[in-house]
Amino acid sequence: MSGSPPENIDRFAGIIGACARMRQLFSLIDKVAETDTTILIQGESGTGKELVARAIHQQGTRQKNPFVPVNCGAIPAELLESELFGHEKGAFTHAIRTRIGRFELAHGGTVFLDEISEMSPMLQVKLLRVLQEREFERVGGTQTIKSDFRVVAATNRCLEDELRQGRFREDLFYRLNVIPVMVPPLRERQADIPLLTEYFIQLFTADKNHRISGISQEAMGHLLRYHWPGNVRELENIIERMVILALAEEISVADLPEKILDCRPIAGAGLATEIPPQGFYLQQAVADYEKEIIIKALNQVNWINNQAAKLLNVNRTTLIEKMKRYKLVKPAVSM
Ligand SMILES: Nc1ncnc2c1ncn2[C@@H]1O[C@H](COP(=O)(O)OP(=O)(O)OP(=O)(O)O)[C@@H](O)[C@H]1O
Ligand SMILES: [Mg+2]
Repeated sequence: MSGSPPENIDRFAGIIGACARMRQLFSLIDKVAETDTTILIQGESGTGKELVARAIHQQGTRQKNPFVPVNCGAIPAELLESELFGHEKGAFTHAIRTRIGRFELAHGGTVFLDEISEMSPMLQVKLLRVLQEREFERVGGTQTIKSDFRVVAATNRCLEDELRQGRFREDLFYRLNVIPVMVPPLRERQADIPLLTEYFIQLFTADKNHRISGISQEAMGHLLRYHWPGNVRELENIIERMVILALAEEISVADLPEKILDCRPIAGAGLATEIPPQGFYLQQAVADYEKEIIIKALNQVNWINNQAAKLLNVNRTTLIEKMKRYKLVKPAVSM
């Protein structure tokens, strides 16, 4: 990300969110930040787990000391051990000099073990010991090293499933999962989509010449309906692209990627349709369905409000209010 972060948007330590689930998460971060407890952050890819880990570090007493991230999935298993614990000169072929590991570097601070589910069984055993005893030896070394670090781990896999499959040690899981922190997927915090969209528009227009003022209501409707498998990261990427490529000052439906336009609400498809596994937006679906029925009634009576209201058994004023909400006006050539 680039540019200076926009002001005036609800946030907590750089995490944008105002819905109830995020507010609960913020107060949990506040509470655990003051402690040294080991934390396990779980959530789908792109939900903001790393932001949460950094927030826990920054809000706490260790903030002046290092935050040391280690991506356990990106470092080959045979290197991860020396990465974490360091190695002595000559410990293996390429160990030309002694190297300090991440646990030592994080003295006084926090080690962030990202993608913890990818750690090999051999290292899981070693990690368990380190978490219990707070001491370790460098690879090829005999001296016991003590370091004062806090561990925050994260995974986008369901660790309980990994336990059942025998891929993750149960004892390590319980040791890590002292306080579970769940970051909800974006589709379960729809209310934050407009907020995040505004934030990313401001962020990506801050230091560019693209003057994007906002996004049309209709386009926002599509963003609200989409199921966001890539979560906030996906939204961030889409907004960045649209800010650069938008045809006009306001982002409109024409600027949206096809995958978002293709995501149809299921209400119109009738009640026989199953709720899709990625979930369903009740309010949006009901609104779409209501709009569709009103248009049908209006078309049937040549857009005479009184008659349409009668057909639908609602007050004329109620109908007019709904027509305003859905921006329904009689088409130039009636259908
Ligand atoms: N609530 C939020 N407010 C602002 N930006 C967010 C928020 N959540 C996520 N982001 C942004 O989305 C991107 C992905 O976030 P992050 O890297 O923390 O996700 P993650 O859960 O660690 O994903 P992965 O499992 O793929 O590693 C980052 O650029 C981050 O800044
Ligand atoms: Mg991450």
